[in-house]
Amino acid sequence: MLVLGIETTCDETAIAIVENGVSIRSNVVHSQANLHASFGGVFPEVASRSHVDAIATTLEEALDEAEVALSDINLIAVAEGPGLIGPLMVGIHFAKGLCLGLDIPIVGVNHIEAHLYSVFMSHENKIPLPALGVVLSGGHTALIEVKAISNYVMLGQTQDDACGEAFDKVAQLLELPYPGGPHIEELAKTGNPSRFPFKAGSVKNHPLDFSFSGLKTAVLYLLKGQNSSKNIPQKIVESDKKDIAASFQHSAFSDIVNKAVKAAALCNAKSVIIGGGVSQNQTLRSYFSSAFTNIPLFWPQQGLSLDNGAMIAGLGYNLFQTKGAADPATLVPKPRILL
Ligand code: KG4
Ligand code: ZN
Repeated sequence: MLVLGIETTCDETAIAIVENGVSIRSNVVHSQANLHASFGGVFPEVASRSHVDAIATTLEEALDEAEVALSDINLIAVAEGPGLIGPLMVGIHFAKGLCLGLDIPIVGVNHIEAHLYSVFMSHENKIPLPALGVVLSGGHTALIEVKAISNYVMLGQTQDDACGEAFDKVAQLLELPYPGGPHIEELAKTGNPSRFPFKAGSVKNHPLDFSFSGLKTAVLYLLKGQNSSKNIPQKIVESDKKDIAASFQHSAFSDIVNKAVKAAALCNAKSVIIGGGVSQNQTLRSYFSSAFTNIPLFWPQQGLSLDNGAMIAGLGYNLFQTKGAADPATLVPKPRILL
């Protein structure tokens, strides 16, 4: 079965063709990062318009790369949320047009669940369950008990900024390009992670929840002085920036790994699966490897960490097998949906 997966939740127009849920025939990602760079984050209206401009050519590229015709596609899978309302509308309407025009079924896919599924896709039938699922992206930070695909219990999530969002905001303060995560990782390589004792927040009565906004403010005050704002000139010298990047990254990842260890014990996890854009970070991977020596860790394969259409198509295939098709009339954007 050939599934066309469409992903437009944020700033990537991504379309992939996946066979039987796991075999990736094409995985085309059109990133808008350069359009949003001057804003230091995603500008929703710019994102919507760019999806409109890019979606048809992205489809053509995905078909060409897979060497299939539109008429060969058996199912359309589209990310229905969470995400930005305008970008979601572009993807969903495009998907509905295809499903009606081709007279084939459609399924709506949860973007957070798809980040988890990207790990299943990369390690078919090898992941012992229950697993602790960790989603670390620009929009989400979550610890999830994964009993099976589509059977989850949310254990903890961020109460304010997501992990990737905190990286992007701290990068902006350090005058690094957007998206900031990879630049912080690079700068941190030469920095001292214990020079500045930053600490990620804790959430009263919710020990597995996250709070990263105070961490970002601590970096701001260090750079520009206590109670200052973003527009005040920096007080620190250029060479301190690598230590700030390393210390920030250390505090964010220590917090995530500590909470992940507690969450894994709580649900008696037999493995840990980690997905989302931040899972590309090699320092994060080494922190997890040091903390989890008794159960295996599973990461997405190359091309499946950042937003992509393959994870949408793959999960869509599974949902279609278990629950059948969606009614196109009721398939609408769900900007704030959780798992
Ligand atoms: O999963 P993703 O593509 O989009 C969302 O669903 O949000 O994740 C994008 C996020 C951005 O915030 C980006 O800065 C972050 O992932 N990211 C990283 C790295 N690569 C991407 N963060 C830390 N280290 C990295 N190497
Ligand atoms: Zn994502």
